[in-house]
Amino acid sequence: MTLRTQVGIVGAGPAGLMLSHLLHLQGIESVILESRSREEIESTVRAGVLEHGTVQLLTELGLDARMRRECAEHHGIYLRFSGETHHLSFTEHADGRSIMLYAQHEFIKDLVAARLAAGAQIHFEAKATAVIDPESRQPRIRYLQNGAEHELRCDFLVGCDGYHSIVRPAFPADRRKELAHVYPMGWFGILVEAPPSSDELIYALHDEGFALVSTRSPTLQRMYFQCDPKDDVANWSDDRIWARFHRLLETKDGWKPKTGPIVSKSIVGMRSFVAEPMQHGRLFIAGDTAHIVPPTGAKGLTLAVADVNLLARGLDEFYRRGTTAGLDGYSEAALRRVWRAEHFSWWMTSMLHRFPGADEFQHRLQLSQLAYVCGSPAAARTLAENYVGFPMP
Ligand code: PHB
Repeated sequence: MTLRTQVGIVGAGPAGLMLSHLLHLQGIESVILESRSREEIESTVRAGVLEHGTVQLLTELGLDARMRRECAEHHGIYLRFSGETHHLSFTEHADGRSIMLYAQHEFIKDLVAARLAAGAQIHFEAKATAVIDPESRQPRIRYLQNGAEHELRCDFLVGCDGYHSIVRPAFPADRRKELAHVYPMGWFGILVEAPPSSDELIYALHDEGFALVSTRSPTLQRMYFQCDPKDDVANWSDDRIWARFHRLLETKDGWKPKTGPIVSKSIVGMRSFVAEPMQHGRLFIAGDTAHIVPPTGAKGLTLAVADVNLLARGLDEFYRRGTTAGLDGYSEAALRRVWRAEHFSWWMTSMLHRFPGADEFQHRLQLSQLAYVCGSPAAARTLAENYVGFPMP
């Protein structure tokens, strides 16, 4: 069976769902193909920071009701090192802007609900297998659903299907570049049933490594510590995990995290990745398909939203006025923001982790940089304005 739509979207993550929603508001039809089930995408634990511009966009779109009820608004972060905690205020250093702590899968639930309520076509458990005629004006995507093969024919095809994309490899190899950096550490993440340990996020550098105290709700907390990316969660009993957190988060005044039952344990690797360009003819890529950032800067979700906001505008200009300037400029404009976030995430990662093999000299440089960020308004602003994020493109 062949389906036909204006914009074919592969992947129902934040980028794909948001793009489909923005297009719908502009009267442009799209179809989303998603290889996983609705239950799976709505329950996979991911990061949870929404930048100021993302919150503004969700508000403009009327998608903010549940987020406003359930999220926590944060006006700064804490940086902890040498056993002391320093507050970095966004109110002071980022012109009063703030961030929202709202789990990515909750954001996904809101978007899926909004899309389905508007009659959207989201095909779950539909696995895209090949891009056909990628150079033509009517690219097609072949997919498998319920054991049968189908095709989706579209004017534009957008890969929002993550790092293992089927769309990105359809760009000719001699026209694309992939730049990557793998960090020699991972993050061990837990969800713990406990009240918040802190009113704002704590990013900590200890002699033995990094730890982060984040939150999900008044009763569920998210915490991370630096680990070997090849480690296995099975090696970590709850007692061993708490001993690690106590050590990495220790302060001179005896601060302790609030503990409770650990309901989830996972390890994620840390890497940076950028694919250039983000357009080839009528094929586009957005979100994690085009770029990955290490989680230290909390930039992944917002980059995805910023990409599709640009792309939706370009598609609107095309369908409304027949002009391609917005689409032609998409890759360059998106990549400008991507590279800023890549640098910021790399910088935060470099400043806050213990790198295997690093010597005392490098550790002292990190401590000096942290002290500078906490002591100089200029350095504090650099961190704060990048963290809360730049205006939506
Ligand atoms: C999270 O809450 O999952 C989180 C927060 C801040 C980060 C990364 C992850 O930098």
